[in-house]
Amino acid sequence: MREGTANIVRREDYLAPAYWIRTVDLTFDLDAAKTIVASKLFIERNLEQMEQPLRLHGEDLNLLRVLVDGQSVSFRHEDGMLVIDAPQQSAFTLEIRNTVAPEKNTQLSGLYASGSGLFTQCEAEGFRRITYFLDRPDVMAVYTVTLRGDKQKYPVLLSNGNLLEQGDLDNGRHFAKWHDPFRKPSYLFALVAADLVAREQRVRSRSGRDHLLQVFVKRGDLEKTEHAMNSLVASMIWDEHRFNLPLDLERFMIVAVDDFNMGAMENKGLNIFNTKYVLASAATATDADFDGIESVVGHEYFHNWTGNRITCQDWFQLSLKEGLTVFRDQEFSMDMAGSASARAVRRIGDVRSLRERQFPEDAGPMSHPVRPDAYQAIDNFYTATVYEKGSEVVRVIHTLVGQQGFAAGMALYFQRHDGFAVTCDDFAQAMADANPYSPLAHNLDVFKRWYSQAGTPRLTARGEYNAANATFTLYLSQHNPALPGQNDKLPQLLPVAVGLLARDGTALPLQLAGEDHAVGTDRVLVMTEAQHTFTFVNVQADCVPSLLRGFSAPVVLDDGLTDADLLVLMAHDTDAFNRWEAGQRLALNRIRAALNSDAPAALDDAFIEAMRAVLNDTRLDPAFKELALLLPSEVYVADQVTGIDPQRLHSVREAMVDQLATALHAEWEAAFAANQVRAGYKPDAVQSGQRALANLALTMLVRHASLTGDTVWPGRAYQRFKDASNMTDRLGALEALVNSHSELAQPALDRFHALFRHEALVLDKFFMLQGRAPEKDGRVFARIKQLMQHPDFTLTNPNRARSLLFALTAGNPAAFHRTDAAGYVFWADMVITLDTLNPQLASRFARALDRWTNLAEPYRSAAREAIARVSAKADLSSDTREIIDRALA
Ligand code: ARG
Ligand code: ZN
Repeated sequence: MREGTANIVRREDYLAPAYWIRTVDLTFDLDAAKTIVASKLFIERNLEQMEQPLRLHGEDLNLLRVLVDGQSVSFRHEDGMLVIDAPQQSAFTLEIRNTVAPEKNTQLSGLYASGSGLFTQCEAEGFRRITYFLDRPDVMAVYTVTLRGDKQKYPVLLSNGNLLEQGDLDNGRHFAKWHDPFRKPSYLFALVAADLVAREQRVRSRSGRDHLLQVFVKRGDLEKTEHAMNSLVASMIWDEHRFNLPLDLERFMIVAVDDFNMGAMENKGLNIFNTKYVLASAATATDADFDGIESVVGHEYFHNWTGNRITCQDWFQLSLKEGLTVFRDQEFSMDMAGSASARAVRRIGDVRSLRERQFPEDAGPMSHPVRPDAYQAIDNFYTATVYEKGSEVVRVIHTLVGQQGFAAGMALYFQRHDGFAVTCDDFAQAMADANPYSPLAHNLDVFKRWYSQAGTPRLTARGEYNAANATFTLYLSQHNPALPGQNDKLPQLLPVAVGLLARDGTALPLQLAGEDHAVGTDRVLVMTEAQHTFTFVNVQADCVPSLLRGFSAPVVLDDGLTDADLLVLMAHDTDAFNRWEAGQRLALNRIRAALNSDAPAALDDAFIEAMRAVLNDTRLDPAFKELALLLPSEVYVADQVTGIDPQRLHSVREAMVDQLATALHAEWEAAFAANQVRAGYKPDAVQSGQRALANLALTMLVRHASLTGDTVWPGRAYQRFKDASNMTDRLGALEALVNSHSELAQPALDRFHALFRHEALVLDKFFMLQGRAPEKDGRVFARIKQLMQHPDFTLTNPNRARSLLFALTAGNPAAFHRTDAAGYVFWADMVITLDTLNPQLASRFARALDRWTNLAEPYRSAAREAIARVSAKADLSSDTREIIDRALA
């Protein structure tokens, strides 16, 4: 499969398959060294297609035999496919026998070994690494699967659907036979053979049906599955309640595995999860980990409808299921969070991650539309664009048609397409048809440009108050930047949620010219063209516009607001997202100014006082305060500036954080004291907000101590680290010490390691925390290289590899981007090493230099040289080749 030549798949070339596979009967003789796969397929020729040979995908397989209707036939291998001349009959049975070697499968795609168990990952194209097949999502079949294996090694044998039979065989072996009544594409197939135990719960759905929920983990991990099970039950209730979508299975299983390339996988009835998104206890997992479990369990569960019941016609439509399912899991998490403020906190988190991951992607060499047009390796397109921007695009629909209209659109979507493999157009059409009087239906073609145009739209807004007429005129214009291959871009459909605030903070009623009365103080303006002018009338006072409330469209906004305007929004906006945003904008303006000057960075009193006011404001929730007090990250700022010098940015931002630590010392002390949680640990929004603010306060206090030489706060942090009763507090205290390069950091790290050396997920934190500590004199980078030699470090476990490598490249720009280029040399070495082990992991890591053309010298040239060095390797995987080629294009 390591091909040197670029093999590009194009959306416009889509053709329905020449054959349909109706039923699949698989028998596995499981063994880590050599598993025998016997496959019996009932196939029908697609009479709408020209008669042609049967071409089956297959990769890294050892073929033993091929029979058509019981007779041997001739076959050949062509372009990595198994080709069988068109059988005479239009319907026939194909029997294939082949073997695979799970323990040699370090790619973790297909059937592979993790610990002493066997697991599968088939999305996107892993099934062809198990047996020859039409491995494409529009070929849907009913599967019956028999698993046979050693009973001691593999006491648990699982596959999709319902268990039909199980029993003993000779030689200490046993078997289990599973049947999945739902037609499904091969990417949703799964099997597990391992020594596992399960937490079980029986639940009755609203419809009165009984279901068995199971969460399978390794022996000893059972007590860490309660939160995952609760999240699963909550997901079930939520989907029935919000969308009328009940669980359609008698049995729903989640299996946790240590070695996994991604977060989790929605295989029908048998979700396979990275342990990171299943296992949690107060002692070993942080509040963020608990939230991650809730959202990923929700995400995979929601796929059962959006993804499995209706799947994708081809992989270009990936966002059909991923964008929609991310939208659903984000809504679920917001509903679970409770209060309006807690919802806003979730929204801010989602937008931060969109801006830090998707915006740079959309401005770099991997920029692609939510529905891509071409790929070399589909695994490279499980991106922030397809997932997070895809979700924002679904949210645009939601904003345009409202919550009820959206539910009606979902109902129509299922009524039309349940059981089929469809396209993004089908989804948008159902939403529009269910809401015929909405701006979506009126502008469906404009809306669909979100699917075809890449890049982040720029929205410019200018307002003009006319006191004599009591009008406020808002001039909105959008610009969709040209990108390679996408020049003449058309305006997009942008819902712009707005409010107007008088300078004293009062929310003004909103009445547009031509309307006979005001419609509330919060409304949505819809842009469909490059320029629009909106005139508000009866505006009794000069005002500040609050635009794009709740981040109503995934754009970059230039609203031209002054510091004074932003301070009004920051103090008074009823939209919590924009309150937060105003503070971030004030900070960003200051960081920008400092980057453009040679003077030492300094924050002005107005900004510091505004931050003090936030910390002192008793009406604000701690979780919100924590987010508001964090300066925009280096990753985000780097994307907002052209020709970035990461070292200068780091020193500017660090100096500003030092200043906030010093100037607000008293407030930090007060915030730390006021936010101690006395009640028993609960990972809910209220407690976790308090812990987050207390941890930030502690970090600031220890930082301040490192500036003054004071030893009291480092000592307190160490004590808190030792005494903490939960991981959030323990890690927060440890991080405060490590991030300020305190002398107590090393003893604390040693103690942390000793305490948790048997907890894989906590060891990941041990590495990650050191990998993302703020760089100081090159010490952090040196530490990372040292840690690569740590006995607990390994590149073969994706979580562990990510904990150190991705912490450096994605979380620590100043450690990575060095004037001596050592970071890039290290990167190139690692890409090359990882690529021989696990191409999906390697190509993900390779993306760390996506934005190299945006770097200032000397970084830029050094980065180019490192990329060229990787490119010179002749035998890169197609995954990594695609990333590197695009970076150099
Ligand atoms: N469908 C899975 C999810 O979103 C992720 C599969 C990722 N596959 C891949 N090849 N990267 O839950
Ligand atoms: Zn998904």
